[in-house]
Amino acid sequence: MYVLGSTDAERERVARLAAHLGPLTERLFREAGIGEGQTVLDIGSGVGDVAMLVGRLVGSRGSVLGIERDPKSVARARERASAAGLAHVRFEESDIDAIASGAPVDAVVGRLILQFLPNPIASLRSLAARVRPGGVLAFHEPAWPPSLAVAPQLPLWHGSASLIRATFRLSGANTEIGLGLGRLFEDAGLPTPSMRLEVPLGNSPEFARRVYDVLCSIRPRFEEWGLYPAELGEFESLGSRLEEEIRASPTAVPFGVGLVAAWSRLPGGQP
Ligand SMILES: C[S@@+](CC[C@H](N)C(=O)[O-])C[C@H]1O[C@@H](n2cnc3c(N)ncnc32)[C@H](O)[C@@H]1O
Repeated sequence: MYVLGSTDAERERVARLAAHLGPLTERLFREAGIGEGQTVLDIGSGVGDVAMLVGRLVGSRGSVLGIERDPKSVARARERASAAGLAHVRFEESDIDAIASGAPVDAVVGRLILQFLPNPIASLRSLAARVRPGGVLAFHEPAWPPSLAVAPQLPLWHGSASLIRATFRLSGANTEIGLGLGRLFEDAGLPTPSMRLEVPLGNSPEFARRVYDVLCSIRPRFEEWGLYPAELGEFESLGSRLEEEIRASPTAVPFGVGLVAAWSRLPGGQP
């Protein structure tokens, strides 16, 4: 089950989040060697932010294909890429595990997607088969322990983040997959990846909104499963109480989940 659901509010949340994560993801892709003229597959492309970011890196001599199974997200991604003048960024409605075979690509990328795949080793192995020798695979995936460890003194932030993690877990998502990306790449037969962990920090109200937005998207699930803890108080006022807690905090707060960047280059061919 896809825990975040398929609502307009969730699609807007993903686009708002992307505006903050963009610079981190761009750094990962540049380091991985993604650039001018390349062909790239973006899996779990959502409303298109990662594909558009890559579209700008590869330029109009390159091309990007976003794979996304939610038809409304695909429609929104096409609208946004067209409005941005990125004719070389296209989207296809498909499950990642059902993508048609095609010409080899220079890179496969994804952000916050491997965590949702039922068999990420098998998926990664078949995605790697689409990458040409010397091409790359690059992913940004979550890890909660580092961001939870930063904010134990903020009970509302910590309780909210723990609720997100627990709800994702119960839905079958692998909330710590970021920390396991090294083994995952190896088990899929790929070279051991280079890895980095990042936990964006700050004190602005945006840091409260980020967490509350996710809670709004997953509310049907945590209510159904009875996970909402009494200590968080009434849900409707939680967003403003989170903002207050963060405003009063002398220490910085994590933006949300920690992000592990991992990338690996296949042997052979031209880099
Ligand atoms: C958390 S969003 C991330 C979107 C985008 N990668 C980004 O970072 O902005 C995950 C997306 O993956 C899609 N998704 C999840 N499982 C999928 C699957 N098996 N095949 C295709 N898309 C999938 C969801 O519909 C959702 O749009």
